[in-house]
Amino acid sequence: MTTQTINTVDRETQLLRDELLEGLRRPQKTLPSKYFYDEIGSTLFEDICTLKEYYPTRTEIGIMRDNIEQITRQLGRRCLLIEYGAGASVKIRLLLDHMRSIAGYVPIDISGEHLLAAAGELRREYPSLHIFPIPADYTQDFELPEIDVPHDRRVVFFPGSTIGNFTPAQAAEFLAHIAEVVGEDGGLLIGVDRKKDAATLEAAYNDDRGVTADFNLNMLVRLNREFDGDFDLDTFRHRAVYNGAEGRIEMHLLSKREQVAHVAGEQFTFRSGESILTEYSYKYHPEEFAHLAAPYFTVEKVWTDARALFSVQYLSAR
Ligand code: AVJ
Repeated sequence: MTTQTINTVDRETQLLRDELLEGLRRPQKTLPSKYFYDEIGSTLFEDICTLKEYYPTRTEIGIMRDNIEQITRQLGRRCLLIEYGAGASVKIRLLLDHMRSIAGYVPIDISGEHLLAAAGELRREYPSLHIFPIPADYTQDFELPEIDVPHDRRVVFFPGSTIGNFTPAQAAEFLAHIAEVVGEDGGLLIGVDRKKDAATLEAAYNDDRGVTADFNLNMLVRLNREFDGDFDLDTFRHRAVYNGAEGRIEMHLLSKREQVAHVAGEQFTFRSGESILTEYSYKYHPEEFAHLAAPYFTVEKVWTDARALFSVQYLSAR
């Protein structure tokens, strides 16, 4: 490693450490949702996507399959496709297989290793595709570098209802950022999970094989390994509830008893039943989402499934 790389790694580790500690010091302790996705967490999330209770992934893919001609027509000719989150999935392949004149593909992901592996795989499968992988944490201030390939327009692809991890205020800010990235005549192809009965929602985040519980608890495994933590995994349990008033799933790690834990040289006390909030997953009626996006984007098209569980939407920049 060069000195430059070492410094960069140190700075990023320090920023993450500060962010983690800042969240744990709050009255409602929190950990950032992006912290789920180390190697183990990413694998657990892939397992979640195949669970019978977790409807979003297969529903979104079904919607895309059923409407792929219309969807790719919306993206238009000579489009530079920018994906937020690594492009390891079948979703990007669906698009690439049906886009006739794509100018280039720009995957952005926080995990550089994951990103380069995924990009390498795509290069083998699509040898004539121009790929510009960008390792970055798009939840922090982030500017897209100049992409040196001729294109007529830019479209951001943000699948999976990852937008649901943001609060509506943060989501609006993020949409403003995307509008800036795509510029005039740009677009956004986005997956947005819909509001529905609480039972279906809560089942999706409380699967009976306990995969989501392991995914949630992996946060503490990471804190123990990466920041010298001493969390006792047996004394915390997974909990996901739908908050209907706020329109969001809330995931927590609940302390089973009063206890003290240490991480990164700091001490944190827990009451019995006290929680660490690890994730929000907001759900939107299509009209609600259109309203949220309205300052920056016009919703051109909403595709959905027969049971109205999920939506894929195409928005054009205002
Ligand atoms: C990747 C954020 C869309 O909110 O459904 C799945 C993450 N958390 N099960 C979601 C998740 C628990 C997922 N997103």
